Amino acid sequence: MEKDKVIVAVDIGTSKITTVVGDIDELGDLHIIGFGESKSRGIDRGVITKPNDVIRSIKESVSQAETTSGYKIVDAIVNVGGPHLEFQNDKEFLTFGVSQKEITHEDIEALHNKVISKAAKEHFEIIHVLAKRYILDDENAVIDPEGMLGSKLEAEFHIVLDKLNSYYNLRKVVENAGIRPVRFVANPIASAVSVLYNEEKEMGVILLDIGGGTTDIAIYCEDSIEYTKSIPVGGNQITMDIAHRFRISKDDAEALKREHGVAILEALEENEVLSIYPRGYDESVDIEKAELIDTIEARLLDIFDVIKKELSETNLLNRVNAGIVLTGGVANIPYIRELAEESFKTDVRIGKPKDYRGFSEKLSYPQYATSVGMLTMLKNDSNIALSSELNTGNNIFNLWKKLTETVRSWFY
Ligand SMILES: Nc1ncnc2c1ncn2[C@@H]1O[C@H](COP(=O)(O)OP(=O)(O)OP(=O)(O)O)[C@@H](O)[C@H]1O
Ligand SMILES: [Mg+2]
Repeated sequence: MEKDKVIVAVDIGTSKITTVVGDIDELGDLHIIGFGESKSRGIDRGVITKPNDVIRSIKESVSQAETTSGYKIVDAIVNVGGPHLEFQNDKEFLTFGVSQKEITHEDIEALHNKVISKAAKEHFEIIHVLAKRYILDDENAVIDPEGMLGSKLEAEFHIVLDKLNSYYNLRKVVENAGIRPVRFVANPIASAVSVLYNEEKEMGVILLDIGGGTTDIAIYCEDSIEYTKSIPVGGNQITMDIAHRFRISKDDAEALKREHGVAILEALEENEVLSIYPRGYDESVDIEKAELIDTIEARLLDIFDVIKKELSETNLLNRVNAGIVLTGGVANIPYIRELAEESFKTDVRIGKPKDYRGFSEKLSYPQYATSVGMLTMLKNDSNIALSSELNTGNNIFNLWKKLTETVRSWFY
């Protein structure tokens, strides 16, 4: 029997750095066997501003995950998020002469390589080359053409790139924290994998992962990814508004938001009085809860307006029939679903990570969409099964040495 596979994901966010260790059993099910989390320092809206602080935060998170899992973490899959991400949709084809032939894995790889060389541009690193659909002989759209007959293989691709300097900085902090980054995944893609259902992707859906510093957007139409973006708006803006309005520290504002925050003022049943400690005051000051909620609602509507503007420029909205799936830490705010429905004028549901076992009390919250998604991407890759021979001894994380090659075909 094959040995279980152990994989690690590190989600480097603006608010927190989460490390999850997953074990894929012989049935292909993902079990989370380790978890670590640290407060993120040195990142501003998806941009690394203080590398040494980020390194320390990564180390703290990884070390906790090592303790909880009992494994020494050497390699990990890491996320990329922030306004430095870009995407392109493109088409490419290969022809094989007049007679039809059986399409091989190598043909598909050659097509991917053709796209990679076309998409490559100066000062950018390619993060994903995702095949949306293949078309054989200008006729049949197929998901996996391997083994089928054809004389022309065409594919539509979604390509995600990251600005080279951001990518380089991220890679460097991960390496300097003692982790070998074996693969990078764009936030919107990872989150979409863990929270969206196939039916939603088929019907057309918008995923919004509203985190602390960034909002990651993914749009799927007819089951394929059409749009990925990471814009610099998020829950930290709400915290800053609360801190400014009530002249309290950022930490106090964050605590106030999490403890008493609600998205809709109308939903407030009782206008309680809350005690706060403004800067320069020796004694506590009373504020009305309605003032707090008013601040939250106003900023949320502002964030939604920024998102709406982005969405309106996509030309994809008429192909979206399953509404919006809202995830990320901000999706925890009570009544945010209702506020979003009113603002976006469409159905909204809150997305939480699915399809995993273990640590569910910890991970069944929207803020873990990205970390669980990264592990799920690996779980769903049948190529992982090929790499079991590397999964030997205590050094099972070296699984990646060869896996990187095989996983390429999925990510690229
Ligand atoms: N229960 C809660 N109530 C209100 N806000 C919350 C709650 N839980 C988390 N948040 C907010 O969610 C944000 C953090 O979300 P998340 O953990 O998804 O961000 P991140 O992944 O670290 O950052 P990013 O993806 O933006 O780089 C913070 O602004 C935090 O205040
Ligand atoms: Mg995040």
